[in-house]
Amino acid sequence: MPLPSIDQLRQDTPGVRHGIHLNNAGAALSPRGVHDTIVGHLEAEIEMGGYEAARARASRIEEAYRSVEALVGASEGTIAFVENATVGFTQALSAFDFRRGDRILTTRHDYASNHIQYLALGDRFGVETEVAPETPEGGVDPSGAMDLIRRRRPRLVAMTHIPTGSGVVQELEPIGGLCRELEIPFLVDACQSVGQMPVDVEALGATFLSATSRKFLRGPRGSGFLYVSPRALDAGYMPLFPDMRGADWVADGLAQPAPDARRFENWEFSWALVLGTGAAARYALELGVEDIRQRAWGLAHRLREGVSALDGVTLLDRGALLSAIVTLDPAGAGEAMVEKLGAMGIRTSWVDRSSAVLDYDSRGVEGALRLSPHAYNTEAEIDLAIDAVEESMRALRTRNEPARRSPRATGG
Ligand SMILES: Cc1ncc(COP(=O)(O)O)c(C=O)c1O
Repeated sequence: MPLPSIDQLRQDTPGVRHGIHLNNAGAALSPRGVHDTIVGHLEAEIEMGGYEAARARASRIEEAYRSVEALVGASEGTIAFVENATVGFTQALSAFDFRRGDRILTTRHDYASNHIQYLALGDRFGVETEVAPETPEGGVDPSGAMDLIRRRRPRLVAMTHIPTGSGVVQELEPIGGLCRELEIPFLVDACQSVGQMPVDVEALGATFLSATSRKFLRGPRGSGFLYVSPRALDAGYMPLFPDMRGADWVADGLAQPAPDARRFENWEFSWALVLGTGAAARYALELGVEDIRQRAWGLAHRLREGVSALDGVTLLDRGALLSAIVTLDPAGAGEAMVEKLGAMGIRTSWVDRSSAVLDYDSRGVEGALRLSPHAYNTEAEIDLAIDAVEESMRALRTRNEPARRSPRATGG
């Protein structure tokens, strides 16, 4: 079924009336139905109390699990709801009893927090991080990575599907296939890919996969999920600190892990946001994720063509396959661009070097302007954004405004 008309997509999305939203890689505009679902549950909570509302709406909560499973091609019982992608990722990392000299194989494009966590594991346990080679056009080189996996047998392979600071879609499927064959766990950060393109945990060969709700999935802030494969569950992987949802305290000296992925959840969190995530997954499935991808990537392509023709702009996206994340270096105009574009009603973000140290340092960039369209954006909005980028750069150059640092316009 093709996507509904653009008018329908925009009617579903109240936020489009308040500006041109090109910050879906930061936090997207939620459809009305997601908002209503969350508010509906909060209403139930004030009427009957939080515990009672969760009990009364248990079947809707179960449905949220089913919707997210369907979204990523996962089997029943393999999704844990968590507060955000980072919590999902660290819960998975905590399941390994790392020893000195263990290796984690990752990529140049892995999220900053993930790299920081690998460094923390290095400091505490002597875990070594190795970065897989890149293809000449950009993105992880699957054959180089597979060669390293065969020769060096890392304890864990952890890779980001689409990074925060570049449009590349990394080709992870062959790497996941090899990991599966060699029984090496494969942890995928799909934070930016879920919701903007079909993501299939089986095709990726993921042992674990983490994601967040608020980005291309268009769910609420403060909610995310972790996929835990049946083989990880069968192998007995547990987070380091399960609580009474992750395990039952069955006797003195004995706790029994939950049989499914809920082993990676905490007892207390916001069911309203879980329901909102489920509603966002259902909405994406109803629209058709492949159709969403085609439309969003088509808009990103138009944007890239337009901005790359502008004087002084360097497009930073490199890779065989490019997503709905467009990054560019605005010729020294820097972070002030976000404010300038914001004043014109266009919402973008700035990715600082500290979010992409390995990638940006390898190319000598200090940061990037990121514009990330979604299916609900229009061609006219993209064309306005291209003109606005040109105008902002000109204004910043002629007024010779210094590239000021504004209070963190960035974020993931
Ligand atoms: C690739 C990637 N991974 C992980 C994260 C972290 O997500 P969260 O803030 O939900 O923990 C982000 C956020 O921008 C991201 O872009």
